[in-house]
Amino acid sequence: MEVMEAVFTRRSIRKYKDKPVEKEKTERLLRAAMQAPSAANQQPWEFIVLQEKASLEKLSRMSPYSGLTANAPLALVLLANEEKMKFPENWQQDMAAAAENILLEAVDLGLGAVWLGAAPLEDRMNYVRKMCGLKESIKPFCVIALGYPEEQENKLIDRYNPSVVYYEKYRGQA
Ligand SMILES: Cc1cc2nc3c(=O)[nH]c(=O)nc-3n(C[C@H](O)[C@H](O)[C@H](O)COP(=O)(O)O)c2cc1C
Repeated sequence: MEVMEAVFTRRSIRKYKDKPVEKEKTERLLRAAMQAPSAANQQPWEFIVLQEKASLEKLSRMSPYSGLTANAPLALVLLANEEKMKFPENWQQDMAAAAENILLEAVDLGLGAVWLGAAPLEDRMNYVRKMCGLKESIKPFCVIALGYPEEQENKLIDRYNPSVVYYEKYRGQA
């Protein structure tokens, strides 16, 4: 698939078929994440791959909006390791780029995915830390739930909004 097709058709998919995601596809998702740009190429990311029912159920209690992992065949927990950071102020931007790469690769692989926010909310980050036995220097960024789409599909919803675009001069400039 052409990469821009994935950009335009990607949707948050929250219901999945009862079918595992193949090992090769899981690795491809992780490869896509690691191709992301990062500040000074610091690549602060680390990943936990969760496929066991008990873990996915536990993860579903991370936040009021993460319940769907209980019925997902796969979740990737995106972590940033403080010890790898040359520019600590940029870690969330690095991780967001990696997360978006996973979402786009998922479309390309015929999967559905959704980003479940953790950082910067300390209670969610600490929940993941506790669940996975992580020390304080490991920063849980987000969870991406994945699987083969059920009911929903990746398809274009055109969000282009010309009223938020300014050519040369911003309206209401101070
Ligand atoms: C930082 C961030 C946190 C999000 N957290 C959640 C979440 O906790 N649960 C969820 O179901 N969707 C979550 N989403 C997905 C958004 O709800 C979704 O991207 C948005 O509604 C637009 O829909 P679309 O992804 O289909 O284009 C999150 C997205 C981002 C970028």
